Amino acid sequence: MNSLQLFLPCAAGVEDFLAAEVQRITGIAALRRSRGGVSLEASWRDALRLNLHSRLAQRVLARLWHGPYRAEQDLYAAAAEVAWEIWFTPRQTIKVELTAQHSPLKSLNFAALKIKDAVCDRFRDKRGERPSVDTQRPDVRLFGHLTAETLTLYIDTTGEPLFKRGWREDKGDAPLKETLAAAMIAATGWDAQAREAATLAEVPPLADPCCGSGTVPIEAAQIALNIAPGGQRRFAFEKLLPFQPHVWQGLRDEARAAERPWPAGQAPIVFGSDVAFRMVDFARRNAERARVAQAIELRGGDALQRLPPSPRAGVLLLNPPYGERIAAAGVAGRNAAERAAGAARAGREQARDEDGHTADAFFERLAAHWKSHYAGWSAWLLTPDLKLPGRMRLKESRRVPLWNGPIECRLFRFDLTARGPRPAETGA
Ligand SMILES: C[S@@+](CC[C@H](N)C(=O)[O-])C[C@H]1O[C@@H](n2cnc3c(N)ncnc32)[C@H](O)[C@@H]1O
Repeated sequence: MNSLQLFLPCAAGVEDFLAAEVQRITGIAALRRSRGGVSLEASWRDALRLNLHSRLAQRVLARLWHGPYRAEQDLYAAAAEVAWEIWFTPRQTIKVELTAQHSPLKSLNFAALKIKDAVCDRFRDKRGERPSVDTQRPDVRLFGHLTAETLTLYIDTTGEPLFKRGWREDKGDAPLKETLAAAMIAATGWDAQAREAATLAEVPPLADPCCGSGTVPIEAAQIALNIAPGGQRRFAFEKLLPFQPHVWQGLRDEARAAERPWPAGQAPIVFGSDVAFRMVDFARRNAERARVAQAIELRGGDALQRLPPSPRAGVLLLNPPYGERIAAAGVAGRNAAERAAGAARAGREQARDEDGHTADAFFERLAAHWKSHYAGWSAWLLTPDLKLPGRMRLKESRRVPLWNGPIECRLFRFDLTARGPRPAETGA
């Protein structure tokens, strides 16, 4: 198990951040970046360490076969060659998941069935017993990926995807995946500043004024305190044959020992607020479970009225309300509702932009509020609305493409400078 080919899939746009993270966790510099993931040659111990420490990967897969195929029987032959018996026993349940890009095969289900048959037949020949399939809660997940010409087979070491850190019980309406929140933080560079700060008091403030269930603040606080994201969950590798509990316990102990203790009397370094008090409650409970409650100040409040939570300038980082489902509430929401009611009374259609939103003032007012009160801060907003800078009348200094599930987004950076006096204010 000292030389495994590992593949860590991630959301598109995250590859470079993931490569840097993998290098930091393993010390291995020879990495290959491909669209949607990072590969490396590493040990079993590295695989465990990556599961424990990666914030950006979706899972950690060990590649067991790679080569050309043309038809279903080639998939069977390939899967029959893999020594599955060194990974698990026929008493364990399995699930085969197959993905494809440009594969000429007609049915992915049939192709997956061929792979499953080969695995089971191999166990019957070698051990006299076949594993059974459990599509809901398998002990062992096998992944296959087909391109036009090649098949790759992997065994999964992770289990539930890595964005499930084990602390979330309270979700809210549209929580970010923890992996995406971590990618946003990595894109801002705040994570490196937090890790490199000599003391927690020197970590620059990070604030999410639309924090929902607290995903961004909680990820940020765990980064600052060096709390391993996988310390509170189980992994698929615990059921695989190479698993040695003492090795895993050793890695967990090492991670615990490397955490930064919270100094007595230290003021919070991360800030979250939301107009919905129910969300703030969720965020509080999540922060408790994630062991970062002391590091985060969470409170209710309208982003259009929230003053800087710290006298030092820092980073604003948020995925703001967007669209009908997660509409802006608070002052802007009331105004929009009043305008809509007024328009309805007057028998008029309210002005809508081409995306179908009421052209409400939320973003324009947010930008004005930030210009007045947040000079020196940098604001990073994740949004699928590519016209957001125009709506805010701000010019972005960076735009980072990121995917929120299937939705293509941009993380826009705005450098907030103090608003100069308007002509009327100077008497000109
Ligand atoms: C897309 S969600 C953010 C989800 C959050 N990142 C999470 O992971 O749970 C947008 C949030 O903005 C909040 N919101 C809407 N209008 C607001 C306002 N005027 N001020 C502050 N928060 C607001 C909503 O309550 C919602 O929780």
